[in-house]
Amino acid sequence: MFEQEVTAKFKNIPTPFYYYDVEVLKQTLQKVKEESNKYGFNVHYALKANANNKILNIIKSFNIGADCVSGNEIKKAIECEFSPDHIVFAGVGKSDAEINFALENDIFCFNCESLQELEVINELAGAKNKTARIALRINPNVNANTHKYITTGLEENKFGINLWELDAVIAALKEHKNLKLIGLHFHIGSQITDLSSFKTLCLKVNEIQAWFVNHKIKIENINVGGGLGVDYHEPDANLIADFAAYFKLFNDFLELLPNQKVHFELGRSISAQCGTLISRVLYIKKGVNTNFAILDAGMTELMRPALYQAYHKIENLSTSPPSPLQLERGVRQDGVRYDVVGPICESSDCFGKAVDLPETLRGDIIALRTAGSYGEVMSSAYNLRDRVKAFYSDEI
Ligand code: LLP
Repeated sequence: MFEQEVTAKFKNIPTPFYYYDVEVLKQTLQKVKEESNKYGFNVHYALKANANNKILNIIKSFNIGADCVSGNEIKKAIECEFSPDHIVFAGVGKSDAEINFALENDIFCFNCESLQELEVINELAGAKNKTARIALRINPNVNANTHKYITTGLEENKFGINLWELDAVIAALKEHKNLKLIGLHFHIGSQITDLSSFKTLCLKVNEIQAWFVNHKIKIENINVGGGLGVDYHEPDANLIADFAAYFKLFNDFLELLPNQKVHFELGRSISAQCGTLISRVLYIKKGVNTNFAILDAGMTELMRPALYQAYHKIENLSTSPPSPLQLERGVRQDGVRYDVVGPICESSDCFGKAVDLPETLRGDIIALRTAGSYGEVMSSAYNLRDRVKAFYSDEI
């Protein structure tokens, strides 16, 4: 829950907007660095989680690399002064223009997802007389036990090269003179809260490594992707994810070869808790079995609930403590049940059903917590809405 002084600052700002707590982001990054440095691990920030300039500048200042999935993300990372030698480029459908852009900027590594992609990168690198450093994204067929839309490491998913294709890949690499194999890449999914999935991944990586060792192929880098989950239900109790346990697990279970480097691509766990979507209640409406609290923010600003039925904690900031107006009106503090919805013309534009809030009035300020990852970056202008703005704790 936000402190009163913070809530007071929101009163003069038109809603909806994203509010980023810069201190929370910095504390999170501090912890990421502290825990990953214990083992000499390399962390890349997945720009897909949040590509806001100010957020990226802060992340970059902690000496973290970038994980990009489009040419424009690479461009943005470079603009925010991430060093190209710390940029990895993933994605199942890299276009020729994007590959060329990455080659021109000498990024650290392409995470390659198919036999045909290897062929295309080889050809484009050859035309520029360059050698592209590549990692093979291998689909480890590990279940991340998360939402089906954010599971990526199963054979049925479109991502990565399947284990049964490895012989063909190695044969192709022998032919592709403009590629240099420098690593193996894995990513099993996102919002993973059961750390045992990562242990399963480590054991699988060890098995796959053994295959490469048997084939006398040297692998310098192991990239285990991202996916560490955050606490959407109790953000204040668990503001910073358990990076200590997370990195320790990889240190305990990955069997590394001498001098091998380990890379991570973390998105959500770095930026989710520093961001909140702030909105106002436009109307309260009585339904048949429920009340609706209609907000001025909707799926255009935060798409996760509509897209994945994702949970974001909803707080009425105007009632904690109750404002003089609410006291004067004698509003109920014991909880009234609302469907909290947005203004967009879609039934899925709903942030939460049967949410218990203190009695809520038009004009109350509502916070949707844990929205710093996959929030602003997934916002849209559907219904020709204005693009959502952002404010920062050190500026307001
Ligand atoms: N590396 C790769 C190859 C990925 O595909 C992803 C996320 C990441 C790293 C970062 O994962 P993270 O640490 O953030 O879990 N829009 C969805 C999440 C999609 C994640 C896609 N890939 C959501 O709002 O939940």
